[in-house]
Amino acid sequence: MNRVESLIGRMTLAEKLGQLTMTACNHLITGPIIAGDSTDSIRNGTLGNLLNLVGAEHIRGMQHLAVNESRLGIPLLIGLDVIHGYRILYPIPLGEASLFDAEAWSLTAQESAKEAAAEGLAMTFAPMLDVARDPRWGRSAEGPGEDPYLAVRIAEAKVRGFQGAGLAQADAIAAVAKHCGAYGAVSAGRDYASADISERTVREVHLPPFAAAVAAGVAAIMPAFTDLAGIPMTANEAMLRGWLRGRLGFDGVIISDYNAIAELIRHGIAADLAEAATLALKAGVDIDMMAGAYRRGLPIALERGLVSMAEIDECVRRVLALKERLGLFDDPHRRGKVRESAAALARRRQLARSIAARAVVMLKNEAETLPLLDSARRLAVLGPLADAPAEMSGPWPGAAEHDSPVSVLAGLRGALPHAEVLHAAGVAIGTEDESGIAAALDICATADHIILCLGEAAIMSGEASSRAQLGLPGIQRTFAEAVLERAQRARIPVSVVLFSGRALIVPWLIEKANAVLAAWFPGSEAGNAIADVVTGRVSPSGRTPVTWPRDAGQVPIFFGERPSGRPFDANDRFTSKYIDVPNGPLFPFGFGLTYGRFVLSNLRVSPGTATESDTLRILVDVGNHGSRAAQETVFLFTHDKVASVARPVLELKGFGKIDLAPGQSGTVTMSLQAAELRFLGVDLESVFEPGEVEILVGPCADRAQLLTAAVELVLR
Ligand code: NOJ
Repeated sequence: MNRVESLIGRMTLAEKLGQLTMTACNHLITGPIIAGDSTDSIRNGTLGNLLNLVGAEHIRGMQHLAVNESRLGIPLLIGLDVIHGYRILYPIPLGEASLFDAEAWSLTAQESAKEAAAEGLAMTFAPMLDVARDPRWGRSAEGPGEDPYLAVRIAEAKVRGFQGAGLAQADAIAAVAKHCGAYGAVSAGRDYASADISERTVREVHLPPFAAAVAAGVAAIMPAFTDLAGIPMTANEAMLRGWLRGRLGFDGVIISDYNAIAELIRHGIAADLAEAATLALKAGVDIDMMAGAYRRGLPIALERGLVSMAEIDECVRRVLALKERLGLFDDPHRRGKVRESAAALARRRQLARSIAARAVVMLKNEAETLPLLDSARRLAVLGPLADAPAEMSGPWPGAAEHDSPVSVLAGLRGALPHAEVLHAAGVAIGTEDESGIAAALDICATADHIILCLGEAAIMSGEASSRAQLGLPGIQRTFAEAVLERAQRARIPVSVVLFSGRALIVPWLIEKANAVLAAWFPGSEAGNAIADVVTGRVSPSGRTPVTWPRDAGQVPIFFGERPSGRPFDANDRFTSKYIDVPNGPLFPFGFGLTYGRFVLSNLRVSPGTATESDTLRILVDVGNHGSRAAQETVFLFTHDKVASVARPVLELKGFGKIDLAPGQSGTVTMSLQAAELRFLGVDLESVFEPGEVEILVGPCADRAQLLTAAVELVLR
């Protein structure tokens, strides 16, 4: 008999339920219930998994208790939210999505895994794969943006990065793809609210990244807290047991979200913990995070005959199998043993700096306001986010919560040792106090260039941070308008650096500022990265992974909408439009300027007629007509004009990049399997339909800027 079966044969019910329970230590607080001391439960074998524990010594200590002092010596599975770095932070996930670079996504996950593993952690509750089309939802900050194809590519890269060459590697950790599914579709963007969308949208938009994570070998999946059309995901048997396990063949661990099993009672589908635990177990949830529902509810459910011991054993088997795959039985301390060199840390800081700089999306750069001229001698660095190092981490710094990132002010002072870099906050991020405005305006008077750092506080996005108003918080607008007006009168250029966990709605700011950079929350190296972009050391190359609305009334606004039977026509009243704002966004998905000036031409697609087994080659020429070297990102969209089900007006199917010196040109080559043009037919089963498909290539999801060609799909 193998190790897992022999252990199951020797375990008491309480020990089995311990393996199905994960409890938080108090090192970090990521949910409403704060657990007490877990040491007794670990010793007596009734607790097999921990979260929110940081620090090599603590982790080793807890693991020691489980292995050396519990009856069966089963090692603990210890997990943490390693969301965008462990000790060194990269940009928030939404910011990282702006890179459109699978290698980079994978690399930051790999480096985060190394750091976390070096302290003994074996699991991260990441990647978060919730496609989100509503910027009100604060958790957009943690995710891949609005598009399923982008989310799929991020899913593959992140799983590969965290899990490395294999889970048993001492520097790899188990990834948890979360939150399956449709959490990003919560009503009106309000966190924890119900999601009620069509099954087609669930399958076309929200589930593909989870399928991709499974295909990439993800170790575990976390269902969303929320319900989908009345069935909470934690109890969604059709989704978890049916789709994930049955259809996709997922045999890893399903781990509930924080207290989610007990919350089935408040969802109104369970009367007590025994019923809640029964529903989750039947749905396929193996580990109960923080609810204590399995430990307290399953013994009662067994007595009532609601569940069987075989069903409990099935979950225990999966949890033990994961511990085995992680190599924890062979050496429970294998991860904590890795000693990281100073060189590795320095390299990681460099990586954080370059990734953060590349994640910056330049939204405007009128008359080459940026980069700063070499002659700039007096710089005014203003605004509440200019000298706000802690805010730079974003809403979920995790284990790095006490390490201060580099502020914009510090970064610019470091980058411009010969310039005078003056600073005033002017206003606080979210208060109404105007008393600092005058002093900030005084600084403007003699500056050659003003860098105005505005935006959200880190905690204004992330979990439980939905916003109904998507402008600048507090009186930042009043302040910014005063600065912009003063600067305009004195002909001083103003470059705005915006920090946020979502697309903000600031059309007035975009109009009045000379340059605008969306920096998201850049992480540990924030200020250095911003300085690299502002001074031209790095040419911005980030592309927005979400559409930027011009008005909150347009939300949800995303590029992959379906065609209307009455498409927009300015001259026809009875067509799809608003009477008070334009239909179009302020910035489309994929938008982002560089210091180059790129022109795309000569789109070629071959073959012109394709069967399902063909691979299409798509080539486009790109020339840099600007005066600086830069990187261009090119997007590949398709549109199936006539199909049995109306297809979105644009579907993202690929992207490519090219670095070009001034005056240089080159060709971007992308490939697309014709099978990728399958879609869910009338019966929601995948079909490959013959007919013409448009191929559209260009710099963003604005049809007017796309080159088009076509391919004819045939059945054989
Ligand atoms: C709740 C969040 O929804 C989830 O993403 C996270 O992994 C857990 N808390 C644990 O912190």
